[in-house]
Amino acid sequence: MKRTKVVDALKSTDYGKEIVVKGWARSHRSSKAVDFIALNDGSTIKNLQVVVDPSAVDAEELKSITTGACIGVEGTLVESQGKGQTVEVQAKKIVIYGLCPNDYPMQKKGQSFEYMRQFAHMRLRTNTFGAVFRIRHNMAIAIHKYFHDHGFYYFNTPLITASDAEGAGEMFQVTTLDLDRVAKEGQVDYSKDFFGKKTNLTVSGQLEGELGATALGAIYTFGPTFRAENSNTPRHLAEFWMIEPEIAFMDKDELMDLEEDFIKYCVQWALDNCMDDLEFLNKMIDKTLLDTLHSVVKESFVRLPYTEGIKILEQAVKDGHKFENPVTGWGMDLNSEHERYLVEQHFKKPVIMTDYPSEIKAFYMKKNPDGKTMQGTDVLFPRIGEIIGGSVREESYEKLLDEIEKRHMKESTYSWYLDTRKYGSCPHAGFGLGFERLILFVTGMQNIRDVIPFPRTPKNAEF
Ligand code: 4AD
Ligand code: MG
Repeated sequence: MKRTKVVDALKSTDYGKEIVVKGWARSHRSSKAVDFIALNDGSTIKNLQVVVDPSAVDAEELKSITTGACIGVEGTLVESQGKGQTVEVQAKKIVIYGLCPNDYPMQKKGQSFEYMRQFAHMRLRTNTFGAVFRIRHNMAIAIHKYFHDHGFYYFNTPLITASDAEGAGEMFQVTTLDLDRVAKEGQVDYSKDFFGKKTNLTVSGQLEGELGATALGAIYTFGPTFRAENSNTPRHLAEFWMIEPEIAFMDKDELMDLEEDFIKYCVQWALDNCMDDLEFLNKMIDKTLLDTLHSVVKESFVRLPYTEGIKILEQAVKDGHKFENPVTGWGMDLNSEHERYLVEQHFKKPVIMTDYPSEIKAFYMKKNPDGKTMQGTDVLFPRIGEIIGGSVREESYEKLLDEIEKRHMKESTYSWYLDTRKYGSCPHAGFGLGFERLILFVTGMQNIRDVIPFPRTPKNAEF
């Protein structure tokens, strides 16, 4: 008999039908007359109750089905008398695929996320992580759908590259050199390395994305990116996924419209397609989650020039607000604490901060006529801080080259990039959304390590 998924069985009203369901026991309770097994197969947050008449199956086998065991059940779908579910399965036959010994790390309910991170390979089988990763999947679908429907092409950029897209030097090197030998003999011969070149894992697909946009009109990337920054925070990963749309002929106002429309679309998609999981997270993780998601799709984001933002922060200090990181005035780089103050306490809605000082931002951003600020458009979100980093790009060959030289970047590494400005240069703009930061926001989870199946952080790369 073909397997019925739990999600479909729970929706069915085909009472009396014989079905086969398969999955993992979330719990097993025995009463005098019957046993109850809560079965979950990952297709939904909800469990299907399996009712077993102990006289109908082998008593020892039945007893051996503990939390985490994998089983198949053949039985009849019946209307449930119990609270909290409309259907259940009256078991006729149970097959055990895999028993689960007592040392199963996910056996106890209510373990801390920190504890579960030690078992990242096993935590996927818990309710919370099931919900988070179903939502993560749905967000990926929403992203592809949004861009496809708006005429963007999905464009794949390389993960191994010789350039530093952000010019910040935070790269993992890729090498075929025998590092043990290098350590011993102290020599580095790059001619024996990856095709004789010094290469690294990409920090962003943007530069190649710009090549795509200036040929196809509008593209987006969606792939892993790597940062060798040693930041041990709840918002940074060494390997994270980024979505980077890049659009020819787009100006700053249009870019902000796109950022706002896109992010609202993703949040609305979650509300439309993931309600069971969101309700679970709203109950278990963050009681304000659904309200926050609803308000983000309804409200207009504030558009705030950096200079105004700094004045607000300075005023907050004067009014007695204590920041851990000092507010040092115009020219300072904002810390997530400052960003969150503006969003959560001052405006109480998302903020698009614009026109940052050029010095604290990347080399490719287009300068304003004042020569001091540039046309950046970062989106700051409640609980997250920066969720999107974006800008209009400098389209003048001379100005871009000048910036590359000023920052002592190696011009020869960027010659291909400069060609976009040399041959038929066009005004264009784009942004990068940190996928895990979006998932953090949508799920209400607190730590970025808990929204990617296998987190890579400075101290964690085993599984
Ligand atoms: O602001 P960032 O560094 O911008 C870029 O990489 C640009 N090339 C994007 C573009 O314009 N195409 O990163 C963009 C976003 C951030 O706003 C943040 O959401 C996320 O990527 N991000 C990280 N997420 C997790 N861990 C990290 N270490 C991250 N660094 C950036
Ligand atoms: Mg940024």
